[in-house]
Amino acid sequence: MPTEPSMASFTLNPLLYLLPLLLLDPLFSQANLHNSKTLRSSLFSQPSTNETTPPTLFFEVTKPIQVPHASPCSLTILQHDFGFTYGKPPVLANYNFPSDCPFQEFSKIVLEWNATCKGRQFDRIFGVWLSGVELLRSCTAEPRATGIFWTVKKDITRYSSLLLSNKTQTFAVYLGNIVDKTYTGVYHVNVTLYFYPAVEKIDLFKEKRRNLGSEIDSKADLIIPFSRSLPLNDGLWYEIQNASDVKVKEFEIPRNVYRAVLEVYVSFHENDEFWYGNLPNEYIAANNLTGYAGNGAFREVVVSLDGDVVGAVWPFTVVFTGGINPLLWRPISAIGSFDLPTYDIEITPFLGNLLDGKPHNLSFSVTNALNVWYIDANLHLWLDSKSTKTEGKLLQYDIVPLGVSSVLDFKGLNGTFVTNTTRFISSTGWVTSSYGTVTTKATQELSYSNTMVMNGNLQIINQITHFNDSVNVNIPAPNAISKKSLKRFLFYLYSDEIDQGNGISLSVANVTLGFNEKKFNDADASSPSSSLQNLQKGKGVMVVKDNLVVSGVASTQQSYNYHGGKFCYSRNVSSSNYTILYDEVGNTCNKRSKTFGYSLSRWWSVPARRAFLASHVGEPNRN
Ligand SMILES: *[C@@H]1O[C@H](CO)[C@@H](O)[C@H](O)[C@H]1NC(C)=O
Ligand SMILES: *[C@@H]1O[C@H](CO)[C@@H](O)[C@H](O)[C@H]1NC(C)=O
Ligand SMILES: *[C@@H]1O[C@H](CO)[C@@H](O)[C@H](O)[C@H]1NC(C)=O
Ligand SMILES: *[C@@H]1O[C@H](CO)[C@@H](O)[C@H](O)[C@H]1NC(C)=O
Ligand SMILES: *[C@@H]1O[C@H](CO)[C@@H](O)[C@H](O)[C@H]1NC(C)=O
Ligand SMILES: *[C@@H]1O[C@H](CO)[C@@H](O)[C@H](O)[C@H]1NC(C)=O
Ligand SMILES: *[C@@H]1O[C@H](CO)[C@@H](O)[C@H](O)[C@H]1NC(C)=O
Ligand SMILES: *[C@@H]1O[C@H](CO)[C@@H](O)[C@H](O)[C@H]1NC(C)=O
Ligand SMILES: *[C@@H]1O[C@H](CO)[C@@H](O)[C@H](O)[C@H]1NC(C)=O
Ligand SMILES: *[C@@H]1O[C@H](CO)[C@@H](O)[C@H](O)[C@H]1NC(C)=O
Ligand SMILES: *[C@@H]1O[C@H](CO)[C@@H](O)[C@H](O)[C@H]1NC(C)=O
Ligand SMILES: *[C@@H]1O[C@H](CO)[C@@H](O)[C@H](O)[C@H]1NC(C)=O
Repeated sequence: MPTEPSMASFTLNPLLYLLPLLLLDPLFSQANLHNSKTLRSSLFSQPSTNETTPPTLFFEVTKPIQVPHASPCSLTILQHDFGFTYGKPPVLANYNFPSDCPFQEFSKIVLEWNATCKGRQFDRIFGVWLSGVELLRSCTAEPRATGIFWTVKKDITRYSSLLLSNKTQTFAVYLGNIVDKTYTGVYHVNVTLYFYPAVEKIDLFKEKRRNLGSEIDSKADLIIPFSRSLPLNDGLWYEIQNASDVKVKEFEIPRNVYRAVLEVYVSFHENDEFWYGNLPNEYIAANNLTGYAGNGAFREVVVSLDGDVVGAVWPFTVVFTGGINPLLWRPISAIGSFDLPTYDIEITPFLGNLLDGKPHNLSFSVTNALNVWYIDANLHLWLDSKSTKTEGKLLQYDIVPLGVSSVLDFKGLNGTFVTNTTRFISSTGWVTSSYGTVTTKATQELSYSNTMVMNGNLQIINQITHFNDSVNVNIPAPNAISKKSLKRFLFYLYSDEIDQGNGISLSVANVTLGFNEKKFNDADASSPSSSLQNLQKGKGVMVVKDNLVVSGVASTQQSYNYHGGKFCYSRNVSSSNYTILYDEVGNTCNKRSKTFGYSLSRWWSVPARRAFLASHVGEPNRN
């Protein structure tokens, strides 16, 4: 039976919802042992200075979506003011492909989320679904008294089969917001879809045959959602509350599938919002601490098919816009915060087990989880249009159990904890379709290392995750291609609480976030088809008096470098207390582009400079 979490979690009991939200400040409570839990809520109590000041533009640095030079068809699918929406069902709209759109084929479909907000408000997580298939997971920007505006654009071409269907479908957005005397910000939102026509095929073939291939590859024929089906079947994430909580859903696939990829959406909240800084239970117990998030710093999302682990997700450390020091993310939002990364798991080798026309179970759990993880997934299926039945067989399945080595070394509240983990999952299987017999081998190789130092009020976290995925096919067939992705996620936090006397203390935080990925068109290729180096460094101080933040400053620097063969994009941008200090954008693929010459700020550490320089001169990563 599919698991259907009850509607009880939506009860409008003020005690039930206010408590977890106001405690939604675990970083301070866990990073700074003597700190209060009310820091986040009080930071924004400065009065509005000038009502005529224009709204501030907030943004996440990312490369622009490559769209053809053609006017798209557009459809405003939702216009809604998210006021007191907490505990209410998702906001729904009927979706129909725009009937006045003259085009038949599309090269790109883009979702655009435009929003304004003014006043005081928390960061709110939200999701967007079509027929239960999640299209976007995101976090709102936190407003200021003078108002903010932000826009998120996402390439949703991979959901084409759904978007171009001629059925009426349900479009759903869940954004749980609370508006009261203190938290005044209402999120005013417009969601618009843009359908870019396929440009002349001849041109495409001449200029970018390879890209055309990869675009076709990205579109499945059928997408099965693994999300909560509330009474209206609109879609919502599952809530995973602890390490033994498993969400199972039964499903069936058509009998002519020849490729299958599971796309997993993940976000972490409340006690696990900052899981990478959670303390070991031994340390909490030895010091008789209460109210601190535990279970240590390692988390793993595990996906199983009929009880066998088929893939793991070791997520990137997305920091939401109220996290660590909210001023860090104004106006430059943290990496992934406006468009959370999703993770693909190749299921094709297991098709032999699924093509029997019978129901099967897909399940999700999170190792070491604390309340709460929001997880759902979409199963992308490619169908053989020339046959009603494909066949397959799983040839090899190799899973090395999670390897953990850890060191706990502490005396009283001071100590050092190291957690290292590794994981290996590999499967090989063949599928016979009208394209022939294609053998697919999928491999995930992961490693993780987290070092945490506690010293008085000081917490230092250093974390690196290597996430390597590869898919090998023995013969090329449409939509069945070999590829490899090497991801490297970095997280560093230095956080301290310095007593100034008279009930005043300084809350200091330096943070580094890094998201690096190299993609290869062939699992054995040595040079990448694209590479991304995205590094963000911030530092901030908040002055806390009697548990209230009385003032704060923060600055953030980001260097984003994408190299994708013919398309390149780089951006170096920095902000301090809401003001952009510099913002340089480059789009030439020349490694020595103009943006190279900008001066590095003094406070950057030597390793950061090295990483930055490496990203500019194209040195290989040091792993
Ligand atoms: C508010 O700002 C605008 C433009 O920045 C300025 O013209 C105006 O005088 C300011 N009003 C007040 C009350 O400070
Ligand atoms: C959304 O905001 C962007 C950026 O300001 C703008 O270009 C776009 O036209 C807006 N979309 C709509 C539908 O107003
Ligand atoms: C949403 O669209 C309406 C109508 O076009 C417009 O008045 C409003 O400013 C838009 N809001 C945002 C946040 O883009
Ligand atoms: C909808 O599409 C299906 C196949 O894609 C087609 O058979 C059917 O006639 C279409 N219905 C309408 C109302 O266009
Ligand atoms: C874990 O969460 C599930 C789902 O909420 C609950 O039924 C179960 O009792 C919890 N287990 C523990 C050990 O807390
Ligand atoms: C923790 O509590 C126990 C039992 O009350 C006590 O014996 C022990 O000394 C306490 N430890 C610390 C570090 O406070
Ligand atoms: C799926 O799980 C349900 C219970 O969660 C079980 O009754 C059913 O037999 C399972 N089906 C398969 C194919 O494993
Ligand atoms: C953990 O991994 C780091 C980085 O690879 C290494 O330096 C360290 O020795 C490892 N520690 C343990 C306890 O395995
Ligand atoms: C991932 O691939 C890189 C480059 O080949 C390699 O250096 C690293 O050790 C790999 N990591 C894991 C966990 O396999
Ligand atoms: C912990 O470290 C702090 C700061 O360095 C120091 O004052 C304190 O004495 C240390 N406590 C123990 C038990 O070592
Ligand atoms: C943290 O940032 C402060 C400036 O706010 C700087 O003085 C300090 O050296 C930094 N510390 C580390 C460990 O990066
Ligand atoms: C931000 O505030 C701090 C402290 O007031 C100040 O030193 C810094 O110069 C400010 N930054 C800008 C760009 O105004």
